[in-house]
Amino acid sequence: MFSVDLLQSNLNTKLIGKKIVYYASTKSTNTDIWKLYQNGETEGLVVVTNHQTKGRGRGDSKWFSGHGLGLTCSLLIKQKFNLDKIGLHAILVPTAIISGIKKNLNIPLSLKWPNDLYHDNKKLGGVLIESKNANTEFIYNIGFGINVNESAKDFPLDIKDKSTSLKIAFGETIQRELLLANILNSIDASIHNVNEPVIIKEWMKYCGHIDSKIYIKHNGKYIQGIFKKINQWGQAIINKNGKDIIFDGPTINI
Ligand code: BTN
Repeated sequence: MFSVDLLQSNLNTKLIGKKIVYYASTKSTNTDIWKLYQNGETEGLVVVTNHQTKGRGRGDSKWFSGHGLGLTCSLLIKQKFNLDKIGLHAILVPTAIISGIKKNLNIPLSLKWPNDLYHDNKKLGGVLIESKNANTEFIYNIGFGINVNESAKDFPLDIKDKSTSLKIAFGETIQRELLLANILNSIDASIHNVNEPVIIKEWMKYCGHIDSKIYIKHNGKYIQGIFKKINQWGQAIINKNGKDIIFDGPTINI
């Protein structure tokens, strides 16, 4: 069970969670957010489920979450950065998620470009950001999945060796409602006090592959290079054969 009352009583937000829709089971909270948006819901809406059956990841990937074990949540916000810096949404969210998790648990976490969460070289969480044009600005559907109380045996075979959870990392069962409240509090605080240099600095602090060889998927092909940094627009700077190449973060406009 997931208690929305317990989540709500720990929320300390101005905007996020002004309406919370809970489903005991659903296919995808990102898909639900768009349906509710078409029906007139607006920024601040949060959708959370105890059992996501067809979780969508970035690209063609799927997102697995153990029934009643993980956190699967999406939220709707209006554009928070100027058009030339919309890539910063994809940078703000994972850093805010990490600081939310760190309110509960003192464990080392790292980020992989642009917004995958890792512990001990295994994936712990991911963020799927989708946007739509809404008159003169964009509206953002921010979905995140975090492995919380899964044990190794709960993960499907194909991702078992590369996945971890907060319970595996910390050694104890975690209360998901308080964890989600801390994450939403942290995202809400970040969007109300947008400080671009701080967001970039925080992201760089958690990035686990600065000056390391990475592969970036671009137009269906993998490009190999050395990850240098993110710039003031939230773009990745990759050095390939001595030349810097700039990559945008993947926000999917639908
Ligand atoms: C990724 O790592 O590729 C991103 C995973 C994002 C998964 C979350 S779970 C809640 C929300 N609903 C979805 O269908 N996907 C996102």
